[in-house]
Amino acid sequence: METPIIPSDTGLNELVYEPAEDSFLLLDALEQDLVKSFQGNLSEDVVNVLEVGCGSGIISTAIAKSEKLLNGRLPCVFALDVNPNACLLTEKTGEANQVATSSLHAVLFDGRHCSRNPFRVQFDIIICNPPYVPILPGENTEDENSGLLQQSWDGGPDGNRFICPFLSNVHHLLNDDGLLYMLLSTWNDPEMLVKDVALPNGLNGVEVIKRTAGRERLSVWKFQKIGLSSV
Ligand SMILES: C[S@@+](CC[C@H](N)C(=O)[O-])C[C@H]1O[C@@H](n2cnc3c(N)ncnc32)[C@H](O)[C@@H]1O
Repeated sequence: METPIIPSDTGLNELVYEPAEDSFLLLDALEQDLVKSFQGNLSEDVVNVLEVGCGSGIISTAIAKSEKLLNGRLPCVFALDVNPNACLLTEKTGEANQVATSSLHAVLFDGRHCSRNPFRVQFDIIICNPPYVPILPGENTEDENSGLLQQSWDGGPDGNRFICPFLSNVHHLLNDDGLLYMLLSTWNDPEMLVKDVALPNGLNGVEVIKRTAGRERLSVWKFQKIGLSSV
């Protein structure tokens, strides 16, 4: 999978999360796992993909260009973010990487409480690199303007303020045989999330890849609906 170029002349880059180790680990996981998951899948339907928290658009753009990983099926990607600058930059990243506008749609939307599905489809693939860093109230005010940028990493006191409601509700958005890929850190206690949050809401989770990055131990987890999963 090609790593997309993020255009640097948009005036938006400082207002949006810059791709880092977590973004690249998620790209590696998708590159490894999607080929296996779509091997032998001969459907000609479009693959509906949702990224929640698209930031610069690096992941959504890579997926929008990833027909090869999807066994020739065409992806149609919805990229959500609460930061309007991220939606704008995602559109520009798509353009800079020659993604057809029909393949990538950036939408300003809060994806944390997806207790109902506002979309007309359920998704075949959902991807999320969430805000996951434990931050105490008042701590870390790097983003003095609007707090929009801090929302990129601020996971609240235990790191799970976004992750728990999202994992509890995301099954509403996922196809019965759909795949959810989510980046987690040891700070989030992934095993606890699988057992106490995902499983009671009908999702199985397995670790796909892990890497140490400075003081963080990052991993990407694949979730599938129970009963239909081959995990
Ligand atoms: C860690 S960054 C990941 C950005 C990009 N996907 C990447 O991997 O480089 C998390 C992103 O989630 C967005 N975000 C935070 N809370 C959100 C919410 N409730 N709904 C949608 N997006 C949210 C942030 O604005 C930020 O762009």
